[in-house]
Amino acid sequence: MSMFPISASDLRFVPNGHAVLQGLDLTLGGEGISVVLGPNGAGKSVLLRILCGLLVPSGGQLRWGVQQDCPAGVAMVFQQPIMLRAAVIENAALGLIPLGVGRAERQASAWAMLERVGLADRAKDSARQLSGGERQRLALARAWLTRPRLLLLDEPTASLDPSGAEMVERIIREIRTEGCKIVMTTHNLGQATRLADDVVFMANGRVREHVPVGEFFRRPASEEARLFIQGELPWQMAF
Ligand SMILES: Nc1ncnc2c1ncn2[C@@H]1O[C@H](COP(=O)(O)OP(=O)(O)OP(=O)(O)O)[C@@H](O)[C@H]1O
Ligand SMILES: [Mg+2]
Repeated sequence: MSMFPISASDLRFVPNGHAVLQGLDLTLGGEGISVVLGPNGAGKSVLLRILCGLLVPSGGQLRWGVQQDCPAGVAMVFQQPIMLRAAVIENAALGLIPLGVGRAERQASAWAMLERVGLADRAKDSARQLSGGERQRLALARAWLTRPRLLLLDEPTASLDPSGAEMVERIIREIRTEGCKIVMTTHNLGQATRLADDVVFMANGRVREHVPVGEFFRRPASEEARLFIQGELPWQMAF
């Protein structure tokens, strides 16, 4: 049974009377990369957490296909992934345990995946010794290994240097090529133009625009989006 389209209608998240999402409408198809943009506090991370079932909305409707509960096959990578005090390969294989995959197969799959993300030579090291960029690649490997149908990435390159970010972007593209739907947030508009098929622009807990990426940057429909793009671009254009 397909989990797509994912549709949110009048979605609300109002913890302790504080309206974080206030009537969010969004439909996500099962293809490509949707990049969620918007200012700090817009509700992007909350939306991702709701889409993977970690937070429960206060109101409105949310469906994954015809299902009302978050289905299997959804994986999320956080901005600061949590690593167990164990070897890189053990951390990579972690997501396969609940899927009932035997130890030998877990190790073999994890090795192959570490090769793909450029961490095979670190397999036996403690995961907690990894740099931020290496941790992020390990977290992507861990999520990718479970063969999710939907992968949610919250600012996957936020604290990475340009080469670290480039490696992560390459991995994200590869995951997309394998047919996994990706929904990610970023504050890097260059990255959004490189990766996105469509842009979901959020402000004040609502989706203001959901359009193909070229259209968003060429002809933002709302004043908020126009100001948002202007506010972020000048320093990048200076180079
Ligand atoms: N679990 C939670 N319970 C209650 N409030 C929350 C929770 N998570 C986030 N919030 C609040 O929701 C609002 C939106 O937060 P969110 O983290 O989604 O913003 P964001 O768009 O991801 O911003 P940023 O660009 O800074 O990451 C904030 O005011 C935050 O304090
Ligand atoms: Mg956030």
